Amino acid sequence: MRELTSWVSGFSDPDNFPYPAVLAEFHRVGKHFVEKELLALLDEIRAQLPAARGGPDAAGRPGPARLLRDFLDVALDKWDGRYDYRSYLGLPLLGLPTGDGNTAGDPDGGRRERDRLLVRLIADALAFELAAGAGATSLLPEQRPGPALVAKRHRLGVRAAAPALTRLGLVAPPEGSRPQAAAAALTALARADRTAAEERILRLTMLPVYVSHDEYLFIRVLQAYECVFAALADELRAAVGDVARGRARPAADRLTHARDQLAAAGPLFSLLATMQPESFRTFRAYTEGASAIQSRSYKLVESLCRTPDGARLASAAYRSVPEVRAGVLAGAPTIDAAYRTAVRDGRLAGPDRDLVRRRMGEFAAALLQWRRTHHRLATRMLGDQPGTGYTEGTPYLAAARSVPVFTTVGHGPWPASSREETGGCPA
Ligand code: HEM
Repeated sequence: MRELTSWVSGFSDPDNFPYPAVLAEFHRVGKHFVEKELLALLDEIRAQLPAARGGPDAAGRPGPARLLRDFLDVALDKWDGRYDYRSYLGLPLLGLPTGDGNTAGDPDGGRRERDRLLVRLIADALAFELAAGAGATSLLPEQRPGPALVAKRHRLGVRAAAPALTRLGLVAPPEGSRPQAAAAALTALARADRTAAEERILRLTMLPVYVSHDEYLFIRVLQAYECVFAALADELRAAVGDVARGRARPAADRLTHARDQLAAAGPLFSLLATMQPESFRTFRAYTEGASAIQSRSYKLVESLCRTPDGARLASAAYRSVPEVRAGVLAGAPTIDAAYRTAVRDGRLAGPDRDLVRRRMGEFAAALLQWRRTHHRLATRMLGDQPGTGYTEGTPYLAAARSVPVFTTVGHGPWPASSREETGGCPA
C-alpha cells in the first residue's frame, strides 16, 4: 500500500499515520480477510512504536503514539489471536469510562460526555444508512436493506437518541417528521457538536469483519449499549457509597438515573431488531470468539447490584470477564450488602429505607426487562445456534434472564411509559 510504505520510509510520525488508507483497505474486504502482507507490515510498525511515548492530552485523550498503538492492537486482533468483543468494538479507542469510578466526583461532566458519545454513535449509524440509501457510499456493499427497512431505522434511531439529546439541551427532531428528514437533522446536529478528534475516533472504531451492510448497525448499537452500561456502572458505584452512608436521597437519585438510562435505551433493541437475520448469519461466521458475554461493563453492573452466586461466578458468565471476577472474589462492595448493613445498623430506616428499596426495585425491573428483550432478539436472530461466546446460545440467556438483581428486594412495578419503549422490539 503506497501511503503506508511512504509513511514508513519517511518520518513515521504517528500524527500523520495514513489512517484513511488503512481503513479503506480493511473496509474493502472486511477485517477477517485483510491481506497477510498488510497485517505483517502493520505488525512491524507497531513493534517499532516507542512504548511510553505520548501521554494523554489535557482532555484525557491519548496522544498520537498511544492512539496509533491502540488502533493497531484493535486492527491486528485476529492476526495476534486476541480477537474478542472489546477489540471487535474497538472499546479501547472509544474512550468509555474504565469502570474505576473516575467520573463519580463529577457526575454531570461524566453524564454529559456519555450522552454526547451515545448521540454520536447513533447518528453515525443513521448517517451510514442515509449515505447508502443515496448511493453515496460503496462501504459494506453486500445485502443492502430496502427503503422501508431503512425508513424504520431512521425513525427508531432518532427515537433512541432523543432522550440523550434532550438531556444535552438539544432539540430532538420531532417524532412526526419524515423519518429521512429527521435522521438527516439528527446527523447534522451530531456533526455540528463533534470535534475533529471525536470524528477520528468514530472512523477508527468501525472495523467490520465482513462487507455486509448491516454489520455497521450491529457494531454501533453494541457500542451504544456499552456506553449505557458504563454509565450505569458509574451510577451504581456511586449509589453503593451513598447507601452505605445512609444517604437515601442521593442513592435514590442515582438508582433512578440508572433506571431511566436503561429504559430510555430500549429503542436501541428495536433498532437492532431491524437487522436482516440473513445478513447477521453471514457476518457472524467471522465473529466467533467475540461475544457480549465478555462485556465488563455489563458484569460490573450486575455485580455492583449484588455478589453473584458461586455457580454463576464459576461459569462462562464471569470466566469471560476475569478482571470483574477477580474484583468480586476480592470482596467488591455491592448495593445489596450496603443496604442490608445500613438497615441493620439503623442508618437507613423509615421513609428513607422505603425510598431506597423502591428505587432498587425499579432498577431491578428495568434490568429484568432488558434481559427479556435481549433474549427475544437473540432468539429471533440466532434460532438454536450456539453463541459466539461459546455458550449453548439462547438457553444460556433464558437461564440468566431470571437471575435475581438483588437479594434484599424484589422488583417493583414497571412504569407504563418505559414498557412502551422497550416493547417496540418486534423480536
Ligand atoms: C443479534 C443480536 C444479538 C444476539 C443474537 C445475541 C446473542 C447472545 C448470546 C447467544 C449470548 C450468550 C453468550 C454467547 O455465547 O455469546 C449473549 C450474551 C450477551 N449479550 Fe447478546 N445478542 C445480541 C445482541 C446484544 C446486544 C445489542 C447487546 C447489548 C450490549 C447484548 C449484550 C449481551 C450481554 C451483556 C450478554 C451477556 C449476558 C450474560 O452473561 O448474562 N447482546 N448474547
